[in-house]
Amino acid sequence: MAANLEDVPSVDLMTELLRRMKCSSKPDKRLILIGPPGSGKGTQSPIIKDEYCLCHLATGDMLRSAVAAKTSLGVKAKEAMDKGELVSDDLVVGIIDEAMKKPSCQKGFILDGFPRTVVQAQKLDEMLEKQGAKVDKVLNFAIDDAILEERITGRWIHPSSGRTYHTKFAPPKSPGIDDFTGEPLIQRKDDTAAVLKSRLEAFHKQTEPVIDYYSKKGLVANLHAEKPPKEVTTEVQKVLSS
Ligand code: AP5
Repeated sequence: MAANLEDVPSVDLMTELLRRMKCSSKPDKRLILIGPPGSGKGTQSPIIKDEYCLCHLATGDMLRSAVAAKTSLGVKAKEAMDKGELVSDDLVVGIIDEAMKKPSCQKGFILDGFPRTVVQAQKLDEMLEKQGAKVDKVLNFAIDDAILEERITGRWIHPSSGRTYHTKFAPPKSPGIDDFTGEPLIQRKDDTAAVLKSRLEAFHKQTEPVIDYYSKKGLVANLHAEKPPKEVTTEVQKVLSS
């Protein structure tokens, strides 16, 4: 271990040390981000993650990796995802249960895209209860459906980092190319106007009741997700510092 550390450049060691010192003064947080497709959950998550030293658990990203790797989980999830329907509660609860044990989740987590049904919310409560923990805040990315088609169909992604761009709202320096690595960007298979319709249907029918579930517990903070990204970030920071 020590020998490995000797090989790490001093600047990297110092950066990591400073990061850990900053993190040690941050309160633990267990956050849920809920909102329809394209509402900005994936855009705001990395900012919150860095600010509060949390892990970012996005079930959609985890499922897409499983589909790409053709694991048995991926094979089971693919059909529902392609159609814009939800995959079964058991599959996603299993991956979240496993992922929350990672050391990077020590100071808490951001759940992005989970829970998406009331059953998933109840299972999450059970998991947390076993650890003597609970959800601190639910950020509701409230937005009108009409805004979402343009956001979804203009989105481009750098698959290995998860960085997200938009042809109009957040364009890369060169079209189709990641700003940092120079690698090609891709569009998600379910980011079409037709599949968006099913995804929105699933959101209104199955996920909106989750907002009611947490409202009754007094945990929901409503955001104006139609605002520009920086203004949404300011709203998020206000909610999380109160
Ligand atoms: P998932 O990957 O979770 O997709 P989603 O919820 O549909 O959310 P998105 O990733 O599309 O939207 P986002 O809110 O992150 O938007 P973003 O920030 O990128 O799920 C995919 C599928 O997996 C599901 O359909 C389902 O099949 C399955 N699945 C996942 N979790 C599941 C679960 N728990 N149970 C069952 N099945 C599950 O923003 C979008 C675009 O807009 C970007 O280009 C961005 O640059 C731009 N943008 C963002 N914010 C702004 C802004 N404020 N102003 C202007 N543009 C903006």
